[in-house]
Amino acid sequence: MTAQRDPALDVGVATEPPDLFKILLFYVIFYGCLAGIFIGTIQVMLLTISEFKPTYQDRVAPPGLTQIPQIQKTEISFRPQESKTYQPYVTNIVRFLEKYKDAAQRDDMIFEDCGSVPSEYKERGPYDSDPGERKVCRFKLEWLGNCSGINDDSYGYKDGKPCVIIKLNRPPKNESSETSAVLKYNPYVLPVQCTGKVGSRGAERERDEDKEKIGTVEYFGLGGHAGFPLQYYPYYGKLLQPKYLQPLLAVQFTNLTVDTEVRIECKAFGENIGYSEKDRFQGRFDVKIEVKS
Ligand SMILES: *[C@@H]1O[C@H](CO)[C@@H](O)[C@H](O)[C@H]1NC(C)=O
Ligand SMILES: *[C@@H]1O[C@H](CO)[C@@H](O)[C@H](O)[C@H]1NC(C)=O
Ligand SMILES: *[C@@H]1O[C@H](CO)[C@@H](O)[C@H](O)[C@H]1NC(C)=O
Repeated sequence: MTAQRDPALDVGVATEPPDLFKILLFYVIFYGCLAGIFIGTIQVMLLTISEFKPTYQDRVAPPGLTQIPQIQKTEISFRPQESKTYQPYVTNIVRFLEKYKDAAQRDDMIFEDCGSVPSEYKERGPYDSDPGERKVCRFKLEWLGNCSGINDDSYGYKDGKPCVIIKLNRPPKNESSETSAVLKYNPYVLPVQCTGKVGSRGAERERDEDKEKIGTVEYFGLGGHAGFPLQYYPYYGKLLQPKYLQPLLAVQFTNLTVDTEVRIECKAFGENIGYSEKDRFQGRFDVKIEVKS
């Protein structure tokens, strides 16, 4: 009987030592393909996303409302007779308003007048590079009235009537506009309202008192409206509108109760603005102000 080999036993048995060159070649091709797939995927990804508009967002971000002066814990406390007690707040406002000066908005290639009354959203074409940079609406400091710094370089602080300047960080989406119908007396304005906040520690009877401590609130905005005019939106982003000016609203508290910490809450009303106690800057903010006698 001849020693016939069982073919089944032959499987997997290497008949000759592996050629080092072949192994090397295998790995070169293998890793080459991996790298190719990786680079290809990134390339395709980059092709599909636009520099000018986010393609994927995990949620619709609500616009954030913030105030200037912006200081830690948003507490403002000063003595009108002592300028050094309010100087930091004034400096903060002055610095912020720098780019709103007339001199900074001269260039007609960049800026345009969008009227001095609120009007519709201003669409400036598709969100891509084809038409190039878009124009930006001018915002005149004089619209901020007694909080513009034009007549009073202390922004009311020397008279114990502090100004706070409010901006809306993210423009609202143009969706259903039937929210808060009561406040919406102008269809082209997103209204803002500041009220005395009821103290959390406060007992029931303290509530009304707290609300009254805020005194009179004056609003200075475009066209005399207490809110943000829509023609400044949408914002096309840093690349297409590098010099974009957010519309501002100045709020002045002209009769605050002195020697009391007054808690104030300002809210923007409009489409797509969420209110949440967790995120303090979603369409509302709190500020504590104390005017010392
Ligand atoms: C602005 O300030 C002037 C001078 O202090 C005052 O007479 C006027 O009433 C103020 N305007 C408003 C709207 O508060
Ligand atoms: C924005 O809303 C107004 C009225 O609600 C509508 O006329 C306009 O077409 C909307 N614009 C966009 C871009 O959806
Ligand atoms: C200012 O507030 C006090 C109460 O805190 C009130 O008596 C006074 O009439 C107010 N003044 C103005 C001009 O509203």
